[in-house]
Amino acid sequence: MRILRTITELRDALDAARASGRAVGAVPTMGALHAGHASLIDRAAAGSDEVVVTVFVNPLQFAAHEDLEVYPRDLDGDAALAADHGATTVFAPSEAEMYPEGRDRVLTSVAVPALSGSLEGAARPTHFDGVCTVVAKLFNVLGPCSAYFGEKDFQQLTIIRRMVRDLSFPVAVVACPTVREPDGVAMSSRNAYLSPSERAEAPVLHRALAAASAAYLGGDRSAVRLRTTMTDVIAESTIAELEYAEVVDSVTLEPGVVTDASRLVIAARFGSTRLLDNVSVLDPGGNA
Ligand code: PAJ
Repeated sequence: MRILRTITELRDALDAARASGRAVGAVPTMGALHAGHASLIDRAAAGSDEVVVTVFVNPLQFAAHEDLEVYPRDLDGDAALAADHGATTVFAPSEAEMYPEGRDRVLTSVAVPALSGSLEGAARPTHFDGVCTVVAKLFNVLGPCSAYFGEKDFQQLTIIRRMVRDLSFPVAVVACPTVREPDGVAMSSRNAYLSPSERAEAPVLHRALAAASAAYLGGDRSAVRLRTTMTDVIAESTIAELEYAEVVDSVTLEPGVVTDASRLVIAARFGSTRLLDNVSVLDPGGNA
């Protein structure tokens, strides 16, 4: 497995791969790779010949008060995990390579405003513009490929799917199920920020989602009642502070009519750490 640092090297390598008939699969990440990321790499390796894991902590998607400086970084560990799961290339550009004019002088922004203001976007108003801009840039560098994203970040997945459709990127977006700890907590690089007592309370998010999904499967079609089911479970925790618990359409992200295509989405703070999770209304286990 090779580690490439420059856009030119990656473009040349992938152009050569495609020219010899090799299909390219890409897994964009911010590093600190865990079993959730590994499942995406496994999927990419099963579907592609050339498997690129991108590792870049993208400053554009962090607000000034957020955790950019302390976000975990471990390129050696990431490269070892990526290689173990079948990656052929890790692309780990410097910030100067990605944003040669400086992070504050990126004058172009890619945005999907209609999907980016609610839920995570309400707490993080500039976040998804930063995500879309870096993912659009990565797609331009990667060229035609399949790109693997986790359902764990459901709003991000929905926005990227729409961006690809609206702007005709030559990319097939592949959604991958959320990988969870045995107690139901969705794996996340930010779980490392939790104190032992906060970590012990974290499964309440998944319990709230599972309760609402079970209610849906039991016949409840009321958005108000499904939300109450979730907020009642969260209220049992003395630590979790709820940010939102919603039932939204999985394409438009709009609340309202509850159908089989609805997604239960939730976010709460545990101390200073925000955790988010989601499931299909059809899946109390959270793996569909
Ligand atoms: P990051 O948080 O590193 O996540 C990279 C990918 O791994 C995303 O598609 C995310 O949904 C997926 N992922 C994370 N935890 C997962 C889990 N428990 N199960 C399944 N998939 C999981 O998301 C980003 O980076 C960035 O915003 C990025 C898209 C790379 C743009 O900078």
